[in-house]
Amino acid sequence: MHPNRKKLQDEMAKWQDDFEKRLTDCIGKRKLRSKNVISIDDLSKEEMDLIFDCTKLFKEFIVKPDRKMGLLKGTSQVNFFFEDSTRTRSSFELAGKHLGIDTINISKGGSSMDKKGETLNDTARTLDKMHADVIILRHSKAGTPQMIADQIKAAVISGGDGWHEHPTQALLDLYTILDKKGKISGNKVVIVGDIKHSRVAGSLIRALNKYDIEPRIAGPPTLIPFGLEKVFKCKVFYSLEEAIKGVDVIYALRIQLERAAGAEIPTVREYSKTYCINPARLAMAKPDAIVMHPGPINREVDLRTEVMDGPQSAVEDQVENGFACRLALLYLLLGGDRR
Ligand code: NCD
Repeated sequence: MHPNRKKLQDEMAKWQDDFEKRLTDCIGKRKLRSKNVISIDDLSKEEMDLIFDCTKLFKEFIVKPDRKMGLLKGTSQVNFFFEDSTRTRSSFELAGKHLGIDTINISKGGSSMDKKGETLNDTARTLDKMHADVIILRHSKAGTPQMIADQIKAAVISGGDGWHEHPTQALLDLYTILDKKGKISGNKVVIVGDIKHSRVAGSLIRALNKYDIEPRIAGPPTLIPFGLEKVFKCKVFYSLEEAIKGVDVIYALRIQLERAAGAEIPTVREYSKTYCINPARLAMAKPDAIVMHPGPINREVDLRTEVMDGPQSAVEDQVENGFACRLALLYLLLGGDRR
């Protein structure tokens, strides 16, 4: 072995020992009660705080050289993605690998579900018999992760189901607000765009409500579910200019054209004229407001390039935090006495 590499590995082993001790101290007697994370409501505010405390530590870990840790060696993870994904899938897979978990990927094409007609239930039960410890599931139909979780022993984490929820996105979003603003509660937040088809909004609004934040919801009336204010603590605005005034956080969403949102707006160009976050609209928020987006971004439709690439953008921080947050969540779900 190259002597420099040997030195690096020894240093890293020492750092990892210390890291594990700090992680154990940080967790203390706290733990996650639910086996699964399918809705953000599977977590209490205290449990979310626990995840954020561990995320902070894992942020130190992800920038270290030689980042493989055997914290969860001997466990296995199946990434079961039935819809396209860049961020969620790769961060879960890398997080698993960094923790020493054996990870595999399954998608519809290439499995026996595609041309051989095996059902999703039977596929999940088959994987369960191989004693997978955790299944990360993304599916276009709402309720699928719950349906699978009810039948198998493995923990299920939703990577997003239909228009319903995307709980780990909300975790990384709230962590990003905490990281950038030093606190979660007390911030004024506006969520802009296609709320109706957005599982991101589904989890984000629930999560913000736990921290007593009543987000402002802005978008065209056709893309905001009727009666939203009766179900969640929030305030609906059809004028973005009115909603954006004085906020600390602007959270823009993509129009979900693949979920028929195109039929509910005149044209994408018309939408962007009214709801795209441009520098003039950004200037109406607090001077130190941050701009967030779950990605993928449609530049000049959701965010203007000057805003996306500008100093107030936290979009790339969200990606990095998402990685650290998924490391923390996997560790908390599979570590300790759960194994
Ligand atoms: C989102 C998704 O797929 O739900 N992306 C993500 O996971 N970061 C949002 C979207 O597709 O618009």
